[in-house]
Amino acid sequence: MFQNKRIKKGTKTWLPAKTIMEVNDMKRKWWHDKVAYQIYPKSCYDTNGDGIGDLRGVISKLDYLKDLGIDIIWLSPIYKSPLADQGYDIADYYAIDPRFGTMEDMDRLIAEAKKRDMYILMDLVVNHCSNEHEWFQRACKDPSGKYGNFFYLEDKRQDGSLPTNWRSYFGGPVWEELPGTDKLYLHSFHKKQPDLNWENPEVREEVYKNINWWLEKGLGGFRIDAIINIKKALPLKNYPADRADGLSTISNMLKDAKGIGAFLGEMQERTFSKYDAFSVGEVFNEKPEEIPAFIGDNGYFSTMFDFEETIFGSSDKGWYDAKPMTPEDYKACIFHAQKKVGDTGFLSNIIENHDEPRGVSRYIPKEDLSLESKKMLAALSLMLRGLPFIYQGQEIGMENKVFHSIDEVNDISTLDEYKVALKAGCSVDEALSVISRFSRDNARTPMQWSNTPHAGFTTGEPWLKENENYTTINVEDELADPNSLFHFYQKLIALRKNPKYKETIVYGKLIPYLQEQKNLMAYYRKTENQTLLVLANYQKPEQKVFLPGKVKEILINNYPDIVWEENSVILKNYQVLVLELL
Ligand code: GLC
Ligand code: CA
Repeated sequence: MFQNKRIKKGTKTWLPAKTIMEVNDMKRKWWHDKVAYQIYPKSCYDTNGDGIGDLRGVISKLDYLKDLGIDIIWLSPIYKSPLADQGYDIADYYAIDPRFGTMEDMDRLIAEAKKRDMYILMDLVVNHCSNEHEWFQRACKDPSGKYGNFFYLEDKRQDGSLPTNWRSYFGGPVWEELPGTDKLYLHSFHKKQPDLNWENPEVREEVYKNINWWLEKGLGGFRIDAIINIKKALPLKNYPADRADGLSTISNMLKDAKGIGAFLGEMQERTFSKYDAFSVGEVFNEKPEEIPAFIGDNGYFSTMFDFEETIFGSSDKGWYDAKPMTPEDYKACIFHAQKKVGDTGFLSNIIENHDEPRGVSRYIPKEDLSLESKKMLAALSLMLRGLPFIYQGQEIGMENKVFHSIDEVNDISTLDEYKVALKAGCSVDEALSVISRFSRDNARTPMQWSNTPHAGFTTGEPWLKENENYTTINVEDELADPNSLFHFYQKLIALRKNPKYKETIVYGKLIPYLQEQKNLMAYYRKTENQTLLVLANYQKPEQKVFLPGKVKEILINNYPDIVWEENSVILKNYQVLVLELL
């Protein structure tokens, strides 16, 4: 299992063992004090004018990321793919899609990152492959042969019914005809993403071989896609329908699927542990008792994302039925996630990713959106216990796009949710407003580098239209403005790495403060020798907050000043403070 090594490649100085034990007895890992960034390559930077971001574009932005303070970079998929789901449908796990570049570009990216003391993560998409993968092609030709067993194939039922009534994530039944045969194959996502049969040891061997091949190349590790889907509840059966289509959300089946740990433990042992590689799991709906197995010292993964606030309010009926979120809900989600993990392991904290709308548009009411409120959200997230993952453009405050027509949408999931909303009785305008709130394309618009045409992303036509607000929200302007959100993120990251505070910010306990005070989100970060207090006024009206002790130092403030009163502070419109207490 996991090697008991405290010091590994890339690690610098560790604290003496005694101090470690005082904080908690968690095993120290090389990545604990790092800050990660997710790149969406297709929308990052285009160097050849074809409107598609590429690896050379990513390489050209490494210095920008280094300057921000980033250590670990997760690349959304760049493997050979028909891009039906933007690369989450892989046709060859050993090849780079020519639209993104070549294997030489990839090798150079890894090498250039290393030069800068940075690590590259790839996306590991192994719940499914593409229907254009050779395995699937061969399964179609010979369903009862070796490759038929790489997938979940079922005979068609004589009465015309499907083997199960599970609904795929992107709409419609999970069963589709296996071309040229009288069989059906299972796809949890799009029909161009056939699920791989993890019960077959040959499939698992192929996956491990591929992971190790990339790790040998010097990759830092992987972000692991949709991993909770690899275990199905067998034998197949129906679940209660939850929409008029007679189908049942696939999560009902997943609740019943037992024994995923055997697969994940085997994968960790056969791959990541041998390289001390970093892995972050896209894990949903884990049970509290499973957390140590997932992300404890010898966990299947290094860490997993906290999705509590991203799934808050979601409905089995669809996006149109989602419940809005208040600051109190946000606070409750974050504190709940922090509490359930405690110091068992490390969560990875996000405000957004490529599957979500922009966090500032989601967690801050529209009329309150400002530089100060964006900074507040940044500080609240980056001061949490766990590993910060910043998503491309988050550091400059990129916002949701307004979709004027469904023709402006590319994402398959959004196209489905639009139809679902219309079917449920929404008008076209209502359906457009629903997808404007939740569309994954909100996060996939081109990165806004400058105030020049197409936001400086491409000299051609971008594959997805840029957000019109690039004239006011862009990297170039923010780099020139010392008060910008970019520089605020930079400051938060620098604070996290400052030797004076690092121990507390990385390993300190998180204890909520005045949790009952409405629209105040506040917490301590505490070690035996140091107490930091994060105070955020999650609203426009000012609010008075009692201080639990004397202030030694002001570490972060999104305003030029602070209004103190005896034993308290008056926080302004979305003011956030990080204080060191005496
Ligand atoms: C994950 C990815 C998402 C993709 C899905 C299927 O949720 O983050 O983008 O559509 O898996 O691979
Ligand atoms: Ca390009």
